[in-house]
Amino acid sequence: MSQVLIVGPGAVGCAVGGALIEAGHNVTFCARQSFTRVSVTEVGGRSAVFPARVITSEKEAAPVDWVLLCVKAYQVPSAADWLRASVGRQTKVAVLLNGVEHRERVAPFVPEGVVLVPVVVELPVSRTAPGEVVWHRHARLAVSGGAAGKEFCGLFSGSFVTGETTDDFITRAWQKLCLNAPGGAILALTGLPMQVFHKAGIADVARAILKECIAVGRAEGAKLDDALIERQIAAFLKARPDEGNSMYADRMAGREMEWDARNGVIVRKGMQHGIPTPVSAALVPLLAALGPSTG
Ligand SMILES: NC(=O)c1ccc[n+]([C@@H]2O[C@H](COP(=O)([O-])OP(=O)(O)OC[C@H]3O[C@@H](n4cnc5c(N)ncnc54)[C@H](OP(=O)(O)O)[C@@H]3O)[C@@H](O)[C@H]2O)c1
Repeated sequence: MSQVLIVGPGAVGCAVGGALIEAGHNVTFCARQSFTRVSVTEVGGRSAVFPARVITSEKEAAPVDWVLLCVKAYQVPSAADWLRASVGRQTKVAVLLNGVEHRERVAPFVPEGVVLVPVVVELPVSRTAPGEVVWHRHARLAVSGGAAGKEFCGLFSGSFVTGETTDDFITRAWQKLCLNAPGGAILALTGLPMQVFHKAGIADVARAILKECIAVGRAEGAKLDDALIERQIAAFLKARPDEGNSMYADRMAGREMEWDARNGVIVRKGMQHGIPTPVSAALVPLLAALGPSTG
């Protein structure tokens, strides 16, 4: 049994926290608002409810075996106090974020030498109330092989979540970005669910974003084939017309959105490699302008 702290008990945090409780670990949720139980439901499947240990002040936290950071990418700096309180020399920190900058975003907030485990989260899940989540399709967490990655996967054995090691984490993370970069931006900017991909010209916008994402990903070392573009477009067109995604949900709720980790990163890394990314560069200020802070 491991001592695990979940920082950010939102959709992903509650789902993986529930899985870890199910697997027999001692789990504490670090939250801004308390709740008493975690309820995890699979669409068309089973529900499980677990009593939740929740703390709301970093003064109640102490170093643990594992910290799982499950906030949105732009919220990482706000979690610094939790990390300071809960990460000791032996603590391993798993970073459950979309995007490809797991280490860059978190390393400034943990002591040098602490083991970071970037995670690609393949677990579509929504929070329906504090401590209450609904997931569907699959529940996979992918990490690099190696001792820490294997240990991370082992934490989930006996639960509904599968931990998988991969020999090529960079490719896996960029493949996920190829879904998130066009999907998030297009739904957020149009304010429409997946049906939008059937409207004139929209699939071509997605193709243009994908081309940039693939070019930059390849420069970063990801193995991304050209056929990925039409595979991804076909998946968008096949999606349920009323299906959303998290950028869309955040846009509809007037919340901040994760555009920097999904679209800004293509521009940033493109510049580093001398790869032009005009489409992403045009999307970024449009997405930023939708944010709550800009009014
Ligand atoms: N949901 C999905 O289907 C999915 C799938 C794959 C990957 N991901 C990625 O996983 C990451 C997490 O996404 P999510 O959907 O779980 O987001 P989410 O539902 O918005 O959850 C984020 C949680 O972090 C909490 N939080 C933020 N700052 C905090 C702080 N300083 N201290 C304590 N708690 C804090 C939020 O608290 P409040 O409740 O107070 O706001 C919220 O509970 C993102 O990078 C996302 O892109 C999500």
